[in-house]
Amino acid sequence: MSTTTLPAVVRSRSDLASLLTERAAGGPLVLVPTMGALHEGHASLMRLARERAGADGTVVVSIFVNPLQFGAGEDLDRYPRTFEADLELSGAEGVDVVFAPVVEEMYPDGIPHPDTASNAVTVQPGPIADLLEGASRPGHFRGVLTVVAKLFGLVRPDVAIFGEKDFQQLSLIRRMVGDLCLGIEVVGAETSREPDGLARSSRNRYLGDEERRRAVALSRVLYAARAAGAAEGLAQALAAGRAELREAEGVDLDYFTILSPGLTELPEDAAPGTEARALIAARVGTTRLIDNLAITLGGAS
Ligand code: PAF
Repeated sequence: MSTTTLPAVVRSRSDLASLLTERAAGGPLVLVPTMGALHEGHASLMRLARERAGADGTVVVSIFVNPLQFGAGEDLDRYPRTFEADLELSGAEGVDVVFAPVVEEMYPDGIPHPDTASNAVTVQPGPIADLLEGASRPGHFRGVLTVVAKLFGLVRPDVAIFGEKDFQQLSLIRRMVGDLCLGIEVVGAETSREPDGLARSSRNRYLGDEERRRAVALSRVLYAARAAGAAEGLAQALAAGRAELREAEGVDLDYFTILSPGLTELPEDAAPGTEARALIAARVGTTRLIDNLAITLGGAS
């Protein structure tokens, strides 16, 4: 039997509103948006949230598998759902409230996919949403930003915490909060990794044993790029990443690139000290995985 104090579970917008109105005024309200299937990576976000909220504040974790951010043929139906275990983990990390709405609660007029007739207002991300993940998953970031904006409106957090593993998502959420003057502090938390370097992800559960062994290639590519980039510069970082990719078996590459932290192209002769981000996406078996790493470029000045 569990000895963990479980968080309060709220399913509807109205119950969430009542609960948040009743909360004692004090420390900040900190939100960690998730799609559930929580793992150690999420636990690290929740710990950070608890730290930021302090003893007087409130930590809310939302668990909602958002249909609007999944394209046709993606894994919406098989996305892992592990609600009881998610509650245990949230309780163990000192979360106060889990907001787990049903789809109708978030989209009372239906899901506004672009091909369905709908008058619903959704968030139109800027052109960065068409690159990288957006190129493979058209409409994905419109879905992400729309649900995050709704969650912000419902929870009204002071602080929201997202993992850096979804780096493009984090950049676009920061941009939305700034451009639409939402007044929420967005905190990016460092990617949590398995001991061999694989970035923790709910989708890692799809990997068979052999695929799991192969998947570590993604982080190897990034660490090779970081080492060469820090020692020699951008061209060498790209070359080192590509060399590592040639060694990788059973990894069907979507992209490997190195961009500025704002996800714009870097000049080929980027000066030593330039901050960069290496990003990779690949399919291992049928599972699409993503990862990224910060690089401070070195080389001759
Ligand atoms: O990163 C995720 O889990 C999701 O994209 C998010 C931010 C919870 C929106 O559905």
